[in-house]
Amino acid sequence: MTPVSIGMIGAGWFGRKHVEVMRREPACRLAAIADPAPEARAYAQSAGVPCFERYEEMLDRVKPRAAIIAAPNLLHAPAGMACAERGIPMLVEKPIADTVESAMPLIAAAERAGVALLVGHHRRYNPIIAKAREIVRAGALGRITAVSAQWMLLKADEYFSAAHRRLPGAGPILTNAVHDIDDLRFICGEIASVQAMTSHAVRQYPVEDTAVIVFRFAGGALGTLTVSDTAAAPWSWELTSGENPFYPRNDENCYLISGTEGALAVPRLELWRYREQAEKGWTQPLSRERLSVEAGDPLARQIRHFCAVARGEAEPAVTGRDAARSLRVVQAVLEAAKTGYTFEIDAEREIGESCSCLSL
Ligand SMILES: NC(=O)c1ccc[n+]([C@@H]2O[C@H](COP(=O)([O-])OP(=O)(O)OC[C@H]3O[C@@H](n4cnc5c(N)ncnc54)[C@H](O)[C@@H]3O)[C@@H](O)[C@H]2O)c1
Repeated sequence: MTPVSIGMIGAGWFGRKHVEVMRREPACRLAAIADPAPEARAYAQSAGVPCFERYEEMLDRVKPRAAIIAAPNLLHAPAGMACAERGIPMLVEKPIADTVESAMPLIAAAERAGVALLVGHHRRYNPIIAKAREIVRAGALGRITAVSAQWMLLKADEYFSAAHRRLPGAGPILTNAVHDIDDLRFICGEIASVQAMTSHAVRQYPVEDTAVIVFRFAGGALGTLTVSDTAAAPWSWELTSGENPFYPRNDENCYLISGTEGALAVPRLELWRYREQAEKGWTQPLSRERLSVEAGDPLARQIRHFCAVARGEAEPAVTGRDAARSLRVVQAVLEAAKTGYTFEIDAEREIGESCSCLSL
């Protein structure tokens, strides 16, 4: 089978991560890079592919069969539209765009042109997340009552040497918690309303360093997500899942999901239930079963899926509308934190048909 030729739009930190993954994947090959940064030229040369300053020129001259967009969020929509206009299937990094308002024209353009649009919420390909969803969706926990999720770690001081990372919009809510919000939607169903409070008391940059978010899921469950990038703590997906070798793994959980019949701790996949189903209640012993799944690199699985999508053999597992719903929740969180109000999310009206995250 001929490998799918892929044009990389944006070869910064995550674009290069995609290139690394592609090197190990025979279903695809890197065809070219588009990135105006001077260091991208040397990087492209070392990868043995041409480098272009403008992505339009790369798409027109190289005519890759597919494109990955790993440029800054603001460019996702215009670069995606350029792909849609040329009939080039795309993998757009998360978040789908900087705002839902700019994501919608991209989604419409791709749909109009019949061009596949996959969004890089790669954790959905992680077997742990897939198993958690399967358990919850199969009803093993009964009716979901409450969810407690954590994203706490300590970002290095040098991370903030780039001025844009200190500004609103570049903080842990949009950059990091968007993943957790997508996970929670995927596992527990749609989010119908949010409240939030943010703080920048520790780093004192304009951007938040800490946030507490309250959710109401469409199925009625309530949830919280505690976010802090200034916490010397192990409770985040990055520091507990072992998904990315860049981060040391701690044998802890970051999501606790409780229901009327049982509870699940993720990523350790600990399923808590009463030993005797007939004898339930607060005086009865609970048992803990640790479920196992075969490990799988979600980025490798995602690129394989993207190749199948580009060849027309699969439908995108994370569609533009689905990803826009996660972004909509993020925007509601930011608005709720700014105003102190509860934000209702009418995604059906604003974004339309979804998705793999239907309410429980
Ligand atoms: N899925 C994940 O877990 C994950 C992790 C990190 C980043 N990301 C996403 O990847 C994207 C890039 O993030 P990053 O951390 O690699 O940022 P980065 O700043 O390291 O890289 C962005 C690159 O885009 C390039 N760029 C700027 N303007 C461009 C243009 N007009 N055309 C092409 N390239 C252009 C920059 O020169 C830079 O090399 C963001 O959308 C981010 O949210 C996703």
